[in-house]
This record gives sequence, structure tokens and C-alpha cells, in this order.
Amino acid sequence: MSKILVIGACGQIGIELVIELRKLYGVKNVIASDIKEQCPPSIVEGLYLQLDIMNHIQLEEIVVKNDIQQVYLLAALLSATAEKKPRFAWELNMQGLFNVLELAKNKKITKIFWPSSIAVFGSNSPMDLTPQCTIMEPSTVYGISKLSGERWCEYYFKKYNVDVRSIRYPGLISYKSAPGGGTTDYAIDIFINAVREGKYTCYLNEDTNLPMMYMTDAIRATIEIMEAPKEQIMIRSSYNLAGISFNPKDLAIEIQKKVPDFRIDYKPDFRQEIADTWPNSIDDSAAKEDWKWKNSVGIEEIVKKMITGFS
Ligand code: NAD
Ligand code: SER
Repeated sequence: MSKILVIGACGQIGIELVIELRKLYGVKNVIASDIKEQCPPSIVEGLYLQLDIMNHIQLEEIVVKNDIQQVYLLAALLSATAEKKPRFAWELNMQGLFNVLELAKNKKITKIFWPSSIAVFGSNSPMDLTPQCTIMEPSTVYGISKLSGERWCEYYFKKYNVDVRSIRYPGLISYKSAPGGGTTDYAIDIFINAVREGKYTCYLNEDTNLPMMYMTDAIRATIEIMEAPKEQIMIRSSYNLAGISFNPKDLAIEIQKKVPDFRIDYKPDFRQEIADTWPNSIDDSAAKEDWKWKNSVGIEEIVKKMITGFS
């Protein structure tokens, strides 16, 4: 079997994706890579390579030497971190994608997964059940890089027949690996603090609704879109993907059902301004129609899994 390369494998999504891909395709067929020197213990049983995605020569060498045919490109700066280093974020988020798209254009690999985000929308987009195609005027460097990336993915598909597939992930919730500096990270921090301290100060207001998803659903969506027959992938920019939508107050009420003494207060910071421009909820009917997507984990189950995970 030709091999799969996961770039950005040490991150929140990467660790869980590598574990799942190895279960499906075999440990020796899934190579993990990241700019970090050390491979996390949970993915140590397979091959791990240190790779800076900005280095296209090193990337091509790894691809050719290891007979890689599919690349999952996860290396990026997320929204909150990107606002602190806008130029670097633009360079990493765009150049990394170009390096991988070019490999496919030059027939070195056959399939790419690259994630986009709800951050492609902006304050002029409809906030509720945000449609697949609508006004998109992101105001963060992260959102600008994701929207530009989407346009480039579609361009490489149309011009060069590059088989690139993409999802606009909502905020992802998980406990196996730490979140990487996003605006939606509160929905993970809240659980750590509920379990360890019994209280949490939230950097978003109580009524800030955002689309969210449990990690197992996100990993399943990622693998399902990559496994779908080519002709079912009608959208080559990126698919809207909805999980569930809630705000910090809703989540705190659910947590209090399990941790009755849990207390939350609110101290909004710069991330509030970012969250205010993102959708409350997402319309993902195109993903449902084209490749039969279905979310499965609801808020009660998320709370149960997260509290157990951090206990
Ligand atoms: P993360 O920050 O947790 O992980 C990113 C990984 O990329 C890190 O391990 C980092 O070391 C690595 N990396 C950074 N620079 C690199 C480089 N130059 N070369 C190689 N590796 C490098 O991010 P994540 O949450 O796992 O997100 C992965 C992708 O999914 C990103 O594109 C992100 O925008 C997207 N996404 C994530 C979420 C979410 O909620 N986690 C939501 C929407 C979209
Ligand atoms: N979870 C991500 C972030 O907050 C959304 O892309 O940056």
C-alpha cells in the first residue's frame, strides 16, 4: 500500500488522526511528521519524521523516499495565536498549503486533505445556519488565510485536477491533546478547570454561541471525505460542517449537572472580538447530501466524555 503522511501530527487533531488512520490502514503505512523534535508518546509506535512544512525540498524528499501518496496537512497557526503574529501566520498557513498543492500538481502525490474553518465567515455573513455559499469577509488573519487557501484549493482542482478535499471544521473539543491557540479553546479549558479547580473564568461572554464538534466526529468526517468516491466531492473549496452550537453559559449548565459546585465567571478578552464575527450555527446540508455526513455526539455526551477524560 502507498503511504500516508500527516503534517502537523503533534497537534490537537494530528495525534488523534494518526491513531485512527493507523488503526484503519496499518501502523507502517501512516507516517507522522511535525516541526517538533519529539514525537508524542501516543503516536510513538510508528515512523515519526521531523519536518518543517516551509521547506519544500525536505517535504519532497520525504514524499519520494517513503512512497507517500496521500497528505493530511494540519500544520497552521490558529486564530488567537495568528492575531499575535499575523505575518508569520500568513506565511505558514499559505506557504505550507502551496508546498503540498505543488507536489500534487507535479504528480508526486495523488490526494490531499487540508482543513479550513468557520473563521472564513465574517460579521457580514448570516450568523444563524450560515450557508455554504454566502458573503465571506473574514476579519482575522487566520480567516483570511483559510478563505484564500480555499480559493487556491479550488483553483488547483480546476486547473491541474489536484484531488484536494477540505472541511470547514467548527471548534473541536477533545482531551487527548492540548488545543493549539484558537478562539474556541474555552470549550476545552472549561473542563480542565471544572475538574481540577471547580471554577473557570471564561474569556468569552456567556451568550457567545459558536459551532462546535467532538473530536471523534471530526476525525470520522475527515476520513469519510477522504474515502468518498471522487465524483461525490462536488465542492473543492471546503465543505461547511456542523456539529452542535452552544454558548459558555449552556456548557456551564451542562457541566453543573455533573459537577454541581462548578462556578463560572466571565472576563472577555481579545478573543471575544474574533468570536463575535463567527457564525452561531452552520448549515452543512451540502456535506450531508454529497458524502452523507452525519454528526453524532451531542452536548450531554461531550460533557460526560470530557469530564471522564480529565478526571
Ligand atoms: P495545533 O496547533 O494543535 O497543531 C498544529 C501542529 O502543526 C502543531 O503540532 C505544530 O507543531 C505543527 N506545526 C507548526 N508549524 C509547523 C511547520 N512549519 N511544519 C510542520 N509542522 C508545524 O492545530 P490543530 O487544532 O490540530 O489544527 C490543525 C488544522 O486544523 C489547522 O489547519 C487548523 O487551522 C485546522 N482547524 C482546527 C480547528 C480546531 O478547533 N482545532 C478548527 C478549525 C480548523
Ligand atoms: N478552533 C479554531 C480556532 O478557534 C477554529 O478554526 O481558531
